[in-house]
Amino acid sequence: MPLFADFIAPLTPEQFFANHWPDTPYVGPRTELPEELLKRVPELSDAERVLETFEGTVSLLRRNGPHARVTHGKDALPMYRAGFTCYMRHVEAHFPGLDDLIAEAAHRLGLPRTAMACEIFCSTGTSGVPMHSDFDVNFALLLSGTKYWRMAPNKSIENQTAMCFACGRKQADEGQLDYAHAPFPERMPDNAQEVTMETGGLLFLPRGWWHETHATGACMQLNLVIKGPHWARVLTSALEEKLLAAPDWREFAYGVSASDGPMQHAAANRLAELITRLQESLAEVQPHALAAELTATFQANNRT
Ligand SMILES: [Fe+2]
Repeated sequence: MPLFADFIAPLTPEQFFANHWPDTPYVGPRTELPEELLKRVPELSDAERVLETFEGTVSLLRRNGPHARVTHGKDALPMYRAGFTCYMRHVEAHFPGLDDLIAEAAHRLGLPRTAMACEIFCSTGTSGVPMHSDFDVNFALLLSGTKYWRMAPNKSIENQTAMCFACGRKQADEGQLDYAHAPFPERMPDNAQEVTMETGGLLFLPRGWWHETHATGACMQLNLVIKGPHWARVLTSALEEKLLAAPDWREFAYGVSASDGPMQHAAANRLAELITRLQESLAEVQPHALAAELTATFQANNRT
């Protein structure tokens, strides 16, 4: 079975695209672990094997407790056994089978693989995360254990671009408060959906959903995450390349950081001149033709 279909089974890709992608959660039942994935990444059957093999940085977390990190998976083993939750990012760099999963998922979803990654959480004691909503899309596959979730849509902000926490907690990016159209709630909404995930269960959690989790005992979760790109990135990165074809746009922005006076005015005038010429040239362009050109540029620059 293809890796992505194996990963979301028993849901089929057709059901996923018809009923869940990109905004509707899916809560999968307890089931056998994905056979094809385990064949490609046998370490996923054992958290200690994952930590022994993973050569990247591991974050060590305790629910509402101190955080730390170690630079190699092996160094995290004693802390894992002592009850810390171990969090590994970009695990695909150390497990080629996961890189294959990302490549196939990116192809199915029509997204650049550079915008996707795999992450692993594993723990032996009490674990979980307090209420937050993520800017990324998550496919969370529970490889072992049982995990209790509460989740509800974040109705205070549309298309957040960084993680958001409950009102009263320090935000990871205060700029998200400017994007929000209502204050963040202090606690999970009373009508939050309660879900208990069992081994083999897949939770598809769309972007911008409040959630908190609790788990006890040995627990390991593999997350396939999508971190963009948003349209602003597609436009600006491709437009930059298009603009750089013209010498005027390659000119250094002399005076751009001047705080006052003639230098600042000269810089603003120069940019206004360039914008005027850009507006004039865009007036003759068909939006669909420009969109096709910028999309092609973006695809070419994000092919790996
Ligand atoms: Fe999260």
